[in-house]
Amino acid sequence: MREEWTEKYRPVSLSGVVGNDDAIRAMRRWAEAWRKGPPKRRALVLRGEPGTGKTSSALALAGDFGWDVIEMNASDHRNADSIRRVAGLGAISETFSPNGEFLTTAEGRRKLIVLDEADNLFGREDYGGARAIVETIRETSQPMILIVNDYYALTRKASAVKTLAENVWFRRLDGRVVESVLERLCREEDVDVDREVLERVAINAGGDLRGAINDLQMLVEGRQVIGSADADALGKRNQEVELDAALREMFGARTARDARNATFGIDKTPDELILWIDENIPLELRSPSEMAAAFDALSRSDVYLRRTRSLQHYGLWTYAREMMTCGVAMSRREGRRHTPSRYNFPGYLIMMSRSKGNRASRAALCSKLAPIFHSSSRQVRTSMLPYLRSLSRRDRQLLVKIGVDADLDEGDVAFLLHEDPGSKTVDSVVSEMRQLRTGNHEPYVSGNEKALTKRRKRLSDF
Ligand SMILES: Nc1ncnc2c1ncn2[C@@H]1O[C@H](COP(=O)(O)OP(=O)(O)O)[C@@H](O)[C@H]1O
Ligand SMILES: [Mg+2]
Repeated sequence: MREEWTEKYRPVSLSGVVGNDDAIRAMRRWAEAWRKGPPKRRALVLRGEPGTGKTSSALALAGDFGWDVIEMNASDHRNADSIRRVAGLGAISETFSPNGEFLTTAEGRRKLIVLDEADNLFGREDYGGARAIVETIRETSQPMILIVNDYYALTRKASAVKTLAENVWFRRLDGRVVESVLERLCREEDVDVDREVLERVAINAGGDLRGAINDLQMLVEGRQVIGSADADALGKRNQEVELDAALREMFGARTARDARNATFGIDKTPDELILWIDENIPLELRSPSEMAAAFDALSRSDVYLRRTRSLQHYGLWTYAREMMTCGVAMSRREGRRHTPSRYNFPGYLIMMSRSKGNRASRAALCSKLAPIFHSSSRQVRTSMLPYLRSLSRRDRQLLVKIGVDADLDEGDVAFLLHEDPGSKTVDSVVSEMRQLRTGNHEPYVSGNEKALTKRRKRLSDF
Protein backbone atom coordinates (compact mmCIF):
# COMPACT_ATOMS: atom_id res chain seq x y z
CA MET A 1 0.00 0.00 0.00
CA ARG A 2 1.27 3.41 -0.90
CA GLU A 3 1.74 5.74 1.99
CA GLU A 4 1.30 9.39 1.25
CA TRP A 5 4.46 11.23 2.18
CA THR A 6 2.43 14.32 2.94
CA GLU A 7 0.76 12.36 5.74
CA LYS A 8 3.89 10.53 6.81
CA TYR A 9 5.77 13.79 7.24
CA ARG A 10 2.97 15.93 8.54
CA PRO A 11 4.50 17.90 11.43
CA VAL A 12 3.11 16.78 14.77
CA SER A 13 4.40 19.80 16.68
CA LEU A 14 4.44 23.48 15.76
CA SER A 15 8.21 23.33 15.93
CA GLY A 16 8.10 21.03 12.89
CA VAL A 17 6.14 23.49 10.76
CA VAL A 18 8.50 25.25 8.40
CA GLY A 19 8.23 28.91 7.39
CA ASN A 20 5.48 31.31 8.40
CA ASP A 21 7.15 32.07 11.70
CA ASP A 22 4.87 35.02 12.45
CA ALA A 23 1.79 32.87 12.01
CA ILE A 24 3.13 30.20 14.32
CA ARG A 25 4.04 32.78 16.94
CA ALA A 26 0.56 34.31 16.78
CA MET A 27 -1.04 30.89 17.18
CA ARG A 28 1.08 30.11 20.24
CA ARG A 29 0.24 33.48 21.79
CA TRP A 30 -3.46 32.90 21.28
CA ALA A 31 -3.30 29.41 22.75
CA GLU A 32 -1.32 30.68 25.77
CA ALA A 33 -4.08 33.20 26.41
CA TRP A 34 -6.60 30.37 26.76
CA ARG A 35 -4.82 29.20 29.90
CA LYS A 36 -6.54 32.04 31.72
CA GLY A 37 -9.97 31.28 30.27
CA PRO A 38 -11.58 32.32 27.00
CA PRO A 39 -9.82 35.36 25.55
CA LYS A 40 -11.55 38.18 23.73
CA ARG A 41 -11.09 36.57 20.35
CA ARG A 42 -12.17 32.98 20.76
CA ALA A 43 -11.53 31.95 17.20
CA LEU A 44 -8.62 32.13 14.81
CA VAL A 45 -8.97 32.22 11.08
CA LEU A 46 -6.01 30.65 9.33
CA ARG A 47 -6.04 31.97 5.81
CA GLY A 48 -3.77 31.34 2.91
CA GLU A 49 -2.81 29.24 -0.07
CA PRO A 50 -3.19 25.46 -0.06
CA GLY A 51 -0.26 23.37 1.01
CA THR A 52 1.31 25.91 3.31
CA GLY A 53 0.63 24.09 6.57
CA LYS A 54 -2.64 25.51 7.88
CA THR A 55 -4.32 22.25 8.77
CA SER A 56 -1.09 20.78 10.11
CA SER A 57 -0.46 23.80 12.30
CA ALA A 58 -3.94 23.71 13.79
CA LEU A 59 -3.55 20.04 14.71
CA ALA A 60 0.03 20.54 15.91
CA LEU A 61 -1.06 23.40 18.15
CA ALA A 62 -3.59 21.14 19.86
CA GLY A 63 -0.90 18.51 20.28
CA ASP A 64 1.55 20.98 21.79
CA PHE A 65 -1.00 22.29 24.27
CA GLY A 66 -2.52 18.92 25.11
CA TRP A 67 -5.93 19.79 23.71
CA ASP A 68 -8.39 17.35 22.18
CA VAL A 69 -9.40 18.07 18.63
CA ILE A 70 -12.85 18.07 17.16
CA GLU A 71 -12.20 18.25 13.47
CA MET A 72 -14.87 19.15 10.99
CA ASN A 73 -14.32 19.26 7.33
CA ALA A 74 -16.80 21.95 6.61
CA SER A 75 -17.56 20.87 3.09
CA ASP A 76 -18.83 17.55 4.40
CA HIS A 77 -21.38 19.13 6.65
CA ARG A 78 -23.10 21.71 4.66
CA ASN A 79 -25.93 22.83 6.81
CA ALA A 80 -26.44 24.90 9.86
CA ASP A 81 -27.76 22.05 11.96
CA SER A 82 -24.68 19.93 11.70
CA ILE A 83 -22.44 22.84 12.57
CA ARG A 84 -24.54 23.58 15.61
CA ARG A 85 -24.59 19.96 16.54
CA VAL A 86 -20.91 19.22 16.11
CA ALA A 87 -19.38 22.56 16.98
CA GLY A 88 -22.04 23.39 19.51
CA LEU A 89 -21.66 20.22 21.52
CA GLY A 90 -17.96 20.38 21.89
CA ALA A 91 -17.82 24.10 22.23
CA ILE A 92 -20.52 25.09 24.56
CA SER A 93 -20.83 22.18 26.89
CA GLU A 94 -17.77 20.44 28.11
CA THR A 95 -19.56 17.22 28.74
CA PHE A 96 -19.14 15.56 25.39
CA SER A 97 -16.22 13.50 24.17
CA PRO A 98 -14.64 14.22 20.79
CA ASN A 99 -16.86 11.62 19.17
CA GLY A 100 -19.98 13.12 20.63
CA GLU A 101 -20.52 10.75 23.56
CA PHE A 102 -21.84 12.13 26.76
CA LEU A 103 -19.23 12.22 29.48
CA THR A 104 -20.49 11.97 33.04
CA THR A 105 -17.26 13.27 34.47
CA ALA A 106 -16.43 16.41 32.63
CA GLU A 107 -12.69 16.82 32.45
CA GLY A 108 -10.90 20.08 32.32
CA ARG A 109 -9.26 19.23 29.01
CA ARG A 110 -9.83 21.79 26.32
CA LYS A 111 -11.24 20.83 22.97
CA LEU A 112 -10.04 22.63 19.91
CA ILE A 113 -12.69 22.85 17.25
CA VAL A 114 -11.14 22.87 13.83
CA LEU A 115 -13.42 23.86 11.00
CA ASP A 116 -11.44 23.10 7.89
CA GLU A 117 -12.39 24.52 4.49
CA ALA A 118 -14.69 26.96 6.21
CA ASP A 119 -14.95 28.91 2.97
CA ASN A 120 -16.63 25.95 1.28
CA LEU A 121 -19.10 25.63 4.06
CA PHE A 122 -22.07 27.16 2.45
CA GLY A 123 -23.29 25.28 -0.57
CA ARG A 124 -25.73 27.56 -2.28
CA GLU A 125 -27.18 30.31 -0.19
CA ASP A 126 -26.76 28.66 3.13
CA TYR A 127 -26.74 31.67 5.38
CA GLY A 128 -27.99 29.44 8.18
CA GLY A 129 -24.59 27.77 8.22
CA ALA A 130 -22.89 31.13 8.40
CA ARG A 131 -25.08 32.22 11.26
CA ALA A 132 -24.37 29.01 13.12
CA ILE A 133 -20.65 29.64 12.86
CA VAL A 134 -20.95 33.18 14.09
CA GLU A 135 -23.14 32.15 17.01
CA THR A 136 -20.80 29.36 17.89
CA ILE A 137 -17.82 31.68 17.99
CA ARG A 138 -19.74 34.09 20.17
CA GLU A 139 -20.81 31.50 22.68
CA THR A 140 -18.01 29.02 22.71
CA SER A 141 -16.05 28.29 25.81
CA GLN A 142 -13.60 26.30 23.74
CA PRO A 143 -10.98 27.46 21.26
CA MET A 144 -11.96 27.39 17.59
CA ILE A 145 -9.90 27.52 14.44
CA LEU A 146 -11.42 28.23 11.05
CA ILE A 147 -9.33 27.43 8.00
CA VAL A 148 -9.92 29.10 4.64
CA ASN A 149 -8.30 29.55 1.27
CA ASP A 150 -10.71 32.29 0.38
CA TYR A 151 -11.34 34.61 3.30
CA TYR A 152 -13.91 36.66 1.45
CA ALA A 153 -16.03 33.64 0.62
CA LEU A 154 -16.42 33.23 4.37
CA THR A 155 -16.85 36.85 5.43
CA ARG A 156 -19.30 37.65 2.64
CA LYS A 157 -21.79 35.48 4.43
CA ALA A 158 -20.49 35.66 7.96
CA SER A 159 -19.22 39.21 8.21
CA ALA A 160 -19.14 39.13 12.02
CA VAL A 161 -16.21 36.76 11.72
CA LYS A 162 -14.13 39.79 10.78
CA THR A 163 -14.42 41.21 14.25
CA LEU A 164 -14.89 38.04 16.26
CA ALA A 165 -11.88 36.16 15.05
CA GLU A 166 -8.21 36.90 14.83
CA ASN A 167 -6.61 36.57 11.41
CA VAL A 168 -3.47 34.55 10.87
CA TRP A 169 -1.87 34.56 7.45
CA PHE A 170 -0.09 31.62 5.89
CA ARG A 171 2.04 32.74 2.97
CA ARG A 172 3.35 30.67 0.10
CA LEU A 173 6.59 29.07 1.14
CA ASP A 174 9.85 30.24 -0.28
CA GLY A 175 11.33 27.99 -2.99
CA ARG A 176 14.50 27.42 -0.99
CA VAL A 177 12.54 26.41 2.07
CA VAL A 178 10.55 23.94 -0.02
CA GLU A 179 13.76 22.59 -1.49
CA SER A 180 15.29 22.05 1.93
CA VAL A 181 12.23 20.12 3.08
CA LEU A 182 12.45 17.95 -0.03
CA GLU A 183 16.12 17.34 0.65
CA ARG A 184 15.35 16.19 4.15
CA LEU A 185 12.65 13.81 2.93
CA CYS A 186 15.07 12.30 0.42
CA ARG A 187 17.55 11.65 3.21
CA GLU A 188 14.91 10.04 5.38
CA GLU A 189 13.59 7.95 2.51
CA ASP A 190 17.15 7.07 1.55
CA VAL A 191 16.80 8.09 -2.07
CA ASP A 192 19.43 9.93 -4.01
CA VAL A 193 17.89 12.72 -6.03
CA ASP A 194 19.79 15.09 -8.23
CA ARG A 195 19.87 18.62 -6.79
CA GLU A 196 18.66 20.07 -10.03
CA VAL A 197 15.58 17.88 -9.86
CA LEU A 198 14.76 19.02 -6.34
CA GLU A 199 15.16 22.59 -7.37
CA ARG A 200 12.85 22.11 -10.30
CA VAL A 201 10.20 20.38 -8.23
CA ALA A 202 10.44 23.17 -5.66
CA ILE A 203 10.11 25.94 -8.23
CA ASN A 204 7.25 24.26 -10.02
CA ALA A 205 5.27 23.93 -6.84
CA GLY A 206 5.07 27.69 -6.50
CA GLY A 207 5.12 27.75 -2.70
CA ASP A 208 2.78 24.80 -2.22
CA LEU A 209 4.68 22.33 -0.08
CA ARG A 210 2.04 19.67 -0.29
CA GLY A 211 2.22 19.80 -4.09
CA ALA A 212 6.00 19.64 -4.01
CA ILE A 213 6.03 16.62 -1.71
CA ASN A 214 3.47 14.83 -3.87
CA ASP A 215 5.48 15.51 -7.02
CA LEU A 216 8.64 14.26 -5.39
CA GLN A 217 7.00 11.07 -4.20
CA MET A 218 5.53 10.42 -7.62
CA LEU A 219 8.93 10.93 -9.19
CA VAL A 220 10.97 8.69 -6.94
CA GLU A 221 8.48 6.00 -6.01
CA GLY A 222 10.20 2.65 -5.93
CA ARG A 223 13.58 3.91 -7.03
CA GLN A 224 16.82 4.75 -5.31
CA VAL A 225 18.50 7.14 -7.70
CA ILE A 226 16.99 9.97 -9.71
CA GLY A 227 19.11 11.72 -12.30
CA SER A 228 18.43 15.08 -13.84
CA ALA A 229 16.94 13.49 -16.95
CA ASP A 230 14.15 12.08 -14.82
CA ALA A 231 12.71 15.50 -14.22
CA ASP A 232 11.79 15.87 -17.86
CA ALA A 233 8.30 14.76 -17.13
CA LEU A 234 7.92 17.68 -14.77
CA GLY A 235 10.13 20.06 -16.65
CA LYS A 236 7.49 20.90 -19.17
CA ARG A 237 5.32 22.19 -16.41
CA ASN A 238 6.84 25.63 -16.59
CA GLN A 239 5.44 25.96 -20.08
CA GLU A 240 2.02 24.90 -18.99
CA VAL A 241 0.80 28.29 -17.90
CA GLU A 242 -1.42 28.58 -20.93
CA LEU A 243 -2.79 25.13 -20.39
CA ASP A 244 -3.52 25.99 -16.81
CA ALA A 245 -5.55 29.02 -17.81
CA ALA A 246 -7.41 27.01 -20.43
CA LEU A 247 -8.32 24.29 -17.96
CA ARG A 248 -9.46 26.87 -15.46
CA GLU A 249 -11.73 28.43 -18.03
CA MET A 250 -12.99 25.07 -19.24
CA PHE A 251 -13.87 23.74 -15.80
CA GLY A 252 -15.61 26.98 -14.89
CA ALA A 253 -17.55 27.40 -18.14
CA ARG A 254 -21.25 28.05 -17.81
CA THR A 255 -22.15 27.03 -21.33
CA ALA A 256 -21.08 24.12 -23.49
CA ARG A 257 -19.82 26.52 -26.10
CA ASP A 258 -17.53 28.28 -23.64
CA ALA A 259 -16.24 24.97 -22.38
CA ARG A 260 -15.36 23.83 -25.88
CA ASN A 261 -13.81 27.11 -26.93
CA ALA A 262 -11.67 27.37 -23.81
CA THR A 263 -9.28 24.70 -25.00
CA PHE A 264 -9.05 25.66 -28.65
CA GLY A 265 -6.03 27.89 -28.35
CA ILE A 266 -3.74 25.42 -26.65
CA ASP A 267 -1.20 23.20 -28.24
CA LYS A 268 -2.52 19.83 -27.11
CA THR A 269 -4.11 17.01 -29.02
CA PRO A 270 -7.27 15.53 -27.54
CA ASP A 271 -5.22 12.45 -26.53
CA GLU A 272 -3.07 14.62 -24.29
CA LEU A 273 -5.81 16.93 -23.14
CA ILE A 274 -7.91 14.07 -21.84
CA LEU A 275 -5.11 13.07 -19.47
CA TRP A 276 -5.06 16.53 -17.94
CA ILE A 277 -8.79 16.62 -17.52
CA ASP A 278 -8.84 13.11 -16.11
CA GLU A 279 -6.19 13.96 -13.54
CA ASN A 280 -7.94 17.10 -12.38
CA ILE A 281 -11.63 16.27 -12.32
CA PRO A 282 -11.39 15.25 -8.66
CA LEU A 283 -9.91 18.63 -7.78
CA GLU A 284 -12.68 20.57 -9.45
CA LEU A 285 -15.76 18.45 -8.99
CA ARG A 286 -15.89 17.19 -5.47
CA SER A 287 -19.37 15.83 -5.04
CA PRO A 288 -19.65 12.15 -5.94
CA SER A 289 -22.52 12.63 -8.35
CA GLU A 290 -20.80 15.43 -10.25
CA MET A 291 -17.60 13.46 -10.37
CA ALA A 292 -19.42 10.39 -11.65
CA ALA A 293 -21.10 12.42 -14.39
CA ALA A 294 -17.78 13.98 -15.40
CA PHE A 295 -15.98 10.66 -15.60
CA ASP A 296 -18.87 9.23 -17.54
CA ALA A 297 -18.47 11.99 -20.12
CA LEU A 298 -14.75 11.34 -20.16
CA SER A 299 -15.24 7.65 -20.80
CA ARG A 300 -17.39 8.46 -23.82
CA SER A 301 -14.73 10.78 -25.05
CA ASP A 302 -12.23 7.99 -24.66
CA VAL A 303 -14.33 5.74 -26.88
CA TYR A 304 -14.09 8.35 -29.64
CA LEU A 305 -10.35 8.67 -29.16
CA ARG A 306 -9.97 4.94 -29.56
CA ARG A 307 -12.08 4.97 -32.72
CA THR A 308 -10.05 7.84 -34.09
CA ARG A 309 -6.91 5.77 -33.67
CA SER A 310 -8.21 2.51 -34.98
CA LEU A 311 -9.99 4.03 -37.98
CA GLN A 312 -7.38 6.74 -38.49
CA HIS A 313 -10.35 9.04 -38.94
CA TYR A 314 -9.43 12.30 -37.30
CA GLY A 315 -12.85 13.80 -37.92
CA LEU A 316 -13.91 11.93 -34.78
CA TRP A 317 -11.64 14.08 -32.66
CA THR A 318 -14.31 16.76 -32.62
CA TYR A 319 -16.66 14.45 -30.74
CA ALA A 320 -13.95 13.35 -28.38
CA ARG A 321 -13.10 16.95 -27.64
CA GLU A 322 -16.69 17.96 -27.03
CA MET A 323 -17.33 15.10 -24.65
CA MET A 324 -14.23 15.86 -22.61
CA THR A 325 -14.79 19.61 -22.41
CA CYS A 326 -18.53 20.31 -22.60
CA GLY A 327 -19.42 16.96 -21.08
CA VAL A 328 -17.18 17.49 -18.09
CA ALA A 329 -17.94 21.17 -17.55
CA MET A 330 -21.69 20.57 -17.74
CA SER A 331 -21.44 17.92 -15.02
CA ARG A 332 -21.22 20.69 -12.46
CA ARG A 333 -24.47 21.10 -10.59
CA GLU A 334 -23.59 23.38 -7.71
CA GLY A 335 -22.90 27.05 -7.97
CA ARG A 336 -19.90 26.94 -5.70
CA ARG A 337 -16.69 26.01 -7.40
CA HIS A 338 -13.60 24.46 -5.89
CA THR A 339 -10.73 26.02 -7.71
CA PRO A 340 -7.41 24.35 -7.11
CA SER A 341 -4.45 26.70 -6.87
CA ARG A 342 -2.87 24.75 -9.67
CA TYR A 343 -3.67 21.67 -11.69
CA ASN A 344 -1.90 18.37 -11.27
CA PHE A 345 0.39 17.02 -13.92
CA PRO A 346 -1.05 13.78 -15.35
CA GLY A 347 0.29 10.90 -13.29
CA TYR A 348 0.05 8.70 -16.37
CA LEU A 349 2.60 10.79 -18.25
CA ILE A 350 5.00 10.74 -15.32
CA MET A 351 4.65 6.99 -15.11
CA MET A 352 5.25 6.56 -18.84
CA SER A 353 8.31 8.74 -18.76
CA ARG A 354 9.68 6.86 -15.79
CA SER A 355 9.15 3.51 -17.42
CA LYS A 356 10.70 4.57 -20.73
CA GLY A 357 13.95 2.66 -20.12
CA ASN A 358 12.05 -0.35 -18.95
CA ARG A 359 9.81 -0.37 -21.98
CA ALA A 360 12.76 -0.03 -24.32
CA SER A 361 14.47 -3.06 -22.81
CA ARG A 362 11.26 -5.02 -22.97
CA ALA A 363 10.90 -4.22 -26.65
CA ALA A 364 14.49 -5.37 -27.29
CA LEU A 365 13.85 -8.61 -25.43
CA CYS A 366 10.67 -9.31 -27.38
CA SER A 367 12.35 -8.85 -30.71
CA LYS A 368 15.01 -11.37 -29.70
CA LEU A 369 12.38 -13.87 -28.63
CA ALA A 370 10.14 -13.41 -31.65
CA PRO A 371 12.13 -15.60 -34.10
CA ILE A 372 12.40 -18.57 -31.78
CA PHE A 373 8.66 -18.49 -31.15
CA HIS A 374 7.94 -17.94 -34.84
CA SER A 375 5.79 -14.93 -34.10
CA SER A 376 5.91 -11.18 -34.11
CA SER A 377 7.53 -9.33 -31.25
CA ARG A 378 4.20 -7.71 -30.53
CA GLN A 379 2.64 -11.12 -30.15
CA VAL A 380 5.43 -12.08 -27.78
CA ARG A 381 4.90 -8.96 -25.74
CA THR A 382 1.14 -9.17 -25.47
CA SER A 383 0.48 -12.86 -25.10
CA MET A 384 3.65 -14.69 -24.16
CA LEU A 385 5.78 -12.49 -21.99
CA PRO A 386 3.75 -12.78 -18.80
CA TYR A 387 3.77 -16.59 -18.99
CA LEU A 388 7.39 -16.65 -19.94
CA ARG A 389 8.30 -14.58 -16.93
CA SER A 390 6.33 -16.85 -14.67
CA LEU A 391 7.85 -19.97 -16.23
CA SER A 392 11.33 -18.54 -16.04
CA ARG A 393 11.13 -18.26 -12.33
CA ARG A 394 9.95 -21.82 -11.90
CA ASP A 395 12.03 -23.61 -14.46
CA ARG A 396 15.62 -22.49 -14.43
CA GLN A 397 16.71 -24.90 -17.15
CA LEU A 398 14.02 -23.71 -19.51
CA LEU A 399 15.23 -20.17 -19.02
CA VAL A 400 18.83 -21.18 -19.68
CA LYS A 401 17.80 -22.98 -22.85
CA ILE A 402 15.76 -20.04 -24.14
CA GLY A 403 18.56 -17.72 -23.13
CA VAL A 404 21.01 -19.58 -25.31
CA ASP A 405 18.65 -19.98 -28.26
CA ALA A 406 17.60 -16.34 -28.29
CA ASP A 407 21.02 -15.05 -27.34
CA LEU A 408 19.73 -13.18 -24.31
CA ASP A 409 22.01 -11.01 -22.25
CA GLU A 410 22.16 -10.32 -18.55
CA GLY A 411 19.60 -7.51 -18.73
CA ASP A 412 17.11 -9.73 -20.56
CA VAL A 413 17.48 -12.49 -18.00
CA ALA A 414 17.06 -10.01 -15.18
CA PHE A 415 13.90 -8.67 -16.80
CA LEU A 416 12.40 -12.13 -17.18
CA LEU A 417 13.19 -12.97 -13.58
CA HIS A 418 11.97 -9.65 -12.15
CA GLU A 419 15.42 -9.23 -10.63
CA ASP A 420 18.16 -6.66 -10.75
CA PRO A 421 20.94 -7.33 -13.22
CA GLY A 422 23.89 -8.60 -11.21
CA SER A 423 21.77 -10.39 -8.63
CA LYS A 424 22.91 -13.85 -7.58
CA THR A 425 20.19 -15.70 -9.47
CA VAL A 426 20.77 -13.72 -12.64
CA ASP A 427 24.50 -14.32 -12.41
CA SER A 428 24.11 -18.03 -12.04
CA VAL A 429 21.64 -18.26 -14.96
CA VAL A 430 24.05 -16.30 -17.13
CA SER A 431 26.94 -18.54 -16.21
CA GLU A 432 24.86 -21.65 -16.92
CA MET A 433 24.04 -20.13 -20.31
CA ARG A 434 27.72 -19.66 -20.92
CA GLN A 435 28.44 -23.29 -20.09
CA LEU A 436 25.66 -24.46 -22.35
CA ARG A 437 27.02 -22.35 -25.18
CA THR A 438 30.47 -23.88 -24.86
CA GLY A 439 28.93 -27.34 -24.97
CA ASN A 440 29.97 -28.03 -21.42
CA HIS A 441 26.59 -29.03 -20.07
CA GLU A 442 24.00 -31.68 -19.46
CA PRO A 443 21.17 -31.91 -21.95
CA TYR A 444 18.04 -30.04 -20.94
CA VAL A 445 15.43 -32.16 -19.19
CA SER A 446 12.36 -30.55 -17.79
CA GLY A 447 11.05 -31.52 -14.38
CA ASN A 448 8.24 -33.39 -16.03
CA GLU A 449 10.51 -35.46 -18.19
CA LYS A 450 12.62 -36.36 -15.20
CA ALA A 451 9.56 -37.68 -13.42
CA LEU A 452 8.49 -39.60 -16.49
CA THR A 453 11.89 -41.23 -16.89
CA LYS A 454 11.84 -42.24 -13.28
CA ARG A 455 8.40 -43.75 -13.63
CA ARG A 456 9.37 -45.57 -16.79
CA LYS A 457 12.41 -46.93 -15.04
CA ARG A 458 10.29 -48.11 -12.12
CA LEU A 459 7.88 -49.76 -14.52
CA SER A 460 10.63 -51.54 -16.39
CA ASP A 461 12.21 -52.66 -13.12
CA PHE A 462 8.89 -54.10 -12.20
N1 LIG B 1 4.78 24.67 6.70
C1 LIG B 1 4.88 23.36 6.61
N2 LIG B 1 5.78 22.67 7.33
C2 LIG B 1 5.89 21.34 7.23
N3 LIG B 1 5.14 20.60 6.39
C3 LIG B 1 4.22 21.21 5.64
C4 LIG B 1 4.04 22.61 5.71
N4 LIG B 1 3.09 22.96 4.85
C5 LIG B 1 2.67 21.83 4.26
N5 LIG B 1 3.35 20.77 4.73
C6 LIG B 1 3.21 19.40 4.24
O1 LIG B 1 2.11 19.40 3.35
C7 LIG B 1 1.03 18.64 3.87
C8 LIG B 1 -0.23 19.44 3.71
O2 LIG B 1 -0.22 20.56 4.55
P1 LIG B 1 -1.53 21.15 5.19
O3 LIG B 1 -1.21 21.52 6.57
O4 LIG B 1 -2.66 20.22 4.99
O5 LIG B 1 -1.69 22.43 4.28
P2 LIG B 1 -2.93 23.37 4.11
O6 LIG B 1 -3.91 23.02 5.18
O7 LIG B 1 -2.36 24.74 4.26
O8 LIG B 1 -3.44 23.12 2.73
C9 LIG B 1 1.39 18.36 5.30
O9 LIG B 1 0.91 17.09 5.69
C10 LIG B 1 2.89 18.40 5.32
O10 LIG B 1 3.39 17.14 4.92
MG1 LIG C 1 -5.79 22.09 4.78
